Amino acid sequence: MLLDAERVIKNFGGLTAVNRVTLQVDASQIVGLIGPNGAGKTTFLNCVAGTYPPSAGKVRFQGKETTGSTPEDMCRMGLSRTFQIPRPFPMLTALENVMVGAVFGAEHGSKKPARGRAEEALKFVNFPLALDTPAQRLNAVQLKRLDLARALACGPKLLFLDELASGLTPGELDTMMALILKIRDTYGVGMIVVEHIMKVITGICERVLVIQYGTPIAEGTPREVMQDPKVIEAYLGEEVVA
Ligand SMILES: Nc1ncnc2c1ncn2[C@@H]1O[C@H](COP(=O)(O)OP(=O)(O)OP(=O)(O)O)[C@@H](O)[C@H]1O
Ligand SMILES: [Mg+2]
Repeated sequence: MLLDAERVIKNFGGLTAVNRVTLQVDASQIVGLIGPNGAGKTTFLNCVAGTYPPSAGKVRFQGKETTGSTPEDMCRMGLSRTFQIPRPFPMLTALENVMVGAVFGAEHGSKKPARGRAEEALKFVNFPLALDTPAQRLNAVQLKRLDLARALACGPKLLFLDELASGLTPGELDTMMALILKIRDTYGVGMIVVEHIMKVITGICERVLVIQYGTPIAEGTPREVMQDPKVIEAYLGEEVVA
């Protein structure tokens, strides 16, 4: 098993943002993590990726306990992520931004130079602009592709995608879903996909965990969880993007 997160809890003062979340991911497996706004999805990813330590619970990555490891350590061990709001270095070019991932990621010892791996990652995601375009000139959708290329250039075994598809047109959505599946099939990467767009969840996820107020309320295939009354109730009053 690639990732084994067990009863992870994260408290911010009096708020329990993540409340005993258990989630496992195998190699080549895509697991969805969904829930209404503020449910604790990003906070859970942050606890596993080392942004901050969990208040309680255990994280094992590739069989080794990693609870409380730093993001740098997790990245070097093979955990990459994209961010809900990408924040590249604005003055660096697209290529340079991705090279940062290639230099500091899991394959930093690889014989292939960082530049070659960065170019490969940008090609893999079909980056639509010249590679020397400064990051500050990219629009939101291009930034998401750049962020994905950067995460890929780190050489991940496990990839977290946090609302990568938000803001895409229906056509772009299909392309992005195909790209995510291609990443899995080419590199055998396991993934946790956080997404509000249900089409993406049903289209690419083998299994889904639903959380509300930090607490797991349902787990199963996409079809099973969408029919679960607890899940329907949790999303009532929310705009569920079909
Ligand atoms: N660093 C922090 N300090 C204090 N509270 C935080 C912090 N990060 C998140 N929270 C709170 O924790 C809860 C969970 O937030 P989180 O961002 O994980 O939700 P989410 O499920 O990712 O939501 P969204 O779908 O809107 O991205 C929210 O109430 C949020 O305000
Ligand atoms: Mg979030």
